Amino acid sequence: MEVCWLTFLVIISWLTLNIDSMVHHSNGKCPTSMPYDCICLDKPLEVQCLQSGLDHIPEDLPDEILLLIFRENHFNIIDYIPVVYKTIISLSLDQNQIRFLRDNAFQDLSNLEELYLENNQISGLHNTSFKGLTSVRLIDLQYNHLYETEEATFSAAYIPLVERINLSSCKLYSLHGNTFKDLTNLRRLDISHNSFNLVSVLGDENSFPKLEKLNLSYNGIGHYLNRSFFQFMPALTDLDLTGNRIQTVQTRAWDGLEDTLQILSLRENNLHYIEDGAFSGLRALRQLDVSYNRLQLLEIPDAFWLGLNQALVHHNEWHCGCHTEWMMASSVVLWNDNQSLICSSPQSMVGRQVLSVQTDQESQCLAPTSSKVLHPALVVSIACASFILLLLVIECMRRRLRAATVTQLKTPRGKFGIYRRMEDLAEDGIANQDL
Ligand SMILES: *[C@@H]1O[C@H](CO)[C@@H](O)[C@H](O)[C@H]1NC(C)=O
Ligand SMILES: *[C@@H]1O[C@H](CO)[C@@H](O)[C@H](O)[C@H]1NC(C)=O
Ligand SMILES: *[C@@H]1O[C@H](CO)[C@@H](O)[C@H](O)[C@H]1NC(C)=O
Ligand SMILES: *[C@@H]1O[C@H](CO)[C@@H](O)[C@H](O)[C@H]1NC(C)=O
Ligand SMILES: *[C@@H]1O[C@H](CO)[C@@H](O)[C@H](O)[C@H]1NC(C)=O
Repeated sequence: MEVCWLTFLVIISWLTLNIDSMVHHSNGKCPTSMPYDCICLDKPLEVQCLQSGLDHIPEDLPDEILLLIFRENHFNIIDYIPVVYKTIISLSLDQNQIRFLRDNAFQDLSNLEELYLENNQISGLHNTSFKGLTSVRLIDLQYNHLYETEEATFSAAYIPLVERINLSSCKLYSLHGNTFKDLTNLRRLDISHNSFNLVSVLGDENSFPKLEKLNLSYNGIGHYLNRSFFQFMPALTDLDLTGNRIQTVQTRAWDGLEDTLQILSLRENNLHYIEDGAFSGLRALRQLDVSYNRLQLLEIPDAFWLGLNQALVHHNEWHCGCHTEWMMASSVVLWNDNQSLICSSPQSMVGRQVLSVQTDQESQCLAPTSSKVLHPALVVSIACASFILLLLVIECMRRRLRAATVTQLKTPRGKFGIYRRMEDLAEDGIANQDL
């Protein structure tokens, strides 16, 4: 009976152990000593080779590692991650000098969920670079030298589960409209701090079905936001366009975002014209930042402003009076520092705080003299043209005056032909000769 009981216990504990190891993917243990000055940590099994002076990936680290970190080594090209590491779920290759990822380098890492490649010099990515990463959820590529992307670099065919991609500070000057293909799980995409412009609509109807946050801050996007660039992002809640060169925004720029977009930043652009009602179609919007621009007017219904939790409008060139009344009745009062919310026109209000202006005079409702701010080059051209015109008029009048005097003096016969001739001669400086 006791033997029976004991056997039962042994079997149970064996089963438990086995289930335990199945749940935790790996059964590996740290060896007593580690090569390459690497550090091994148990539970979960993690190997860290930090500044180990490695220039290729060694194959003799323990089996069944879950987290593998090769930070600050001397890798140049990543050829292939050995199949002995097929159990890893996180791989860090950041802060090396990696220039190139060989096609299929990660093909045996079907369990990998997080791939860290930041702070390298990787250029020329292809979709085959990520082939085999069928479980990957995060790809971090910030601070690399990508320069441009090609079609389908990030494609569901190879990375179907990816949720986050970070391409911040990758020196991208050109972003192919279809860089991202069928990424049905992508939630967050960061392409900030590059230098591309948007030239075409991003993606197609299958590219970004679940994308929630898109960061396009600090790029070269401008001057017109007059196309439906974001129309294929039906789940987008958060769009960051800070620090670009956008001057004008038209309603169609937000096509497709009407019921989802909650947070929009257009801070630090060159905005001076926003089409009437360009924001009011954004029914879900809660936070709007248009600070640090050159706005004079914003014609938007009060109801829209009342729906916002946060509106940042300071550091603009507001035309005060009834045009800025909406600011009193909205979250603008809560969120802006009155000291930096200043009138730039009309003349009588320059320098006053927008929120201190009382709108009782009819005259304060006049539109600014130039509601669409003139381009500086245009202003200069107009000034030059006016000056030249003035000179011409003066010169003309001078000539007529002189000619008239000469004619009067010299032509008693007042016939038109002679008058004209006298004028011509006067011009040639020979009118004084006797005719
Ligand atoms: C991978 O990229 C190549 C070349 O750009 C392209 O022809 C191919 O269709 C892409 N593959 C997938 C699965 O998107
Ligand atoms: C991408 O990297 C930048 C720079 O470090 C960081 O601020 C940002 O949060 C990252 N974005 C995502 C989506 O992880
Ligand atoms: C976008 O990226 C910039 C710089 O990387 C960061 O400061 C900013 O917080 C990001 N915006 C959002 C909404 O995450
Ligand atoms: C957007 O504006 C620019 C400059 O006015 C113009 O060249 C372009 O054709 C416009 N695009 C659309 C789709 O209206
Ligand atoms: C700014 O001005 C508004 C309107 O006059 C006022 O209600 C608000 O308290 C002021 N805010 C601060 C911080 O002084």
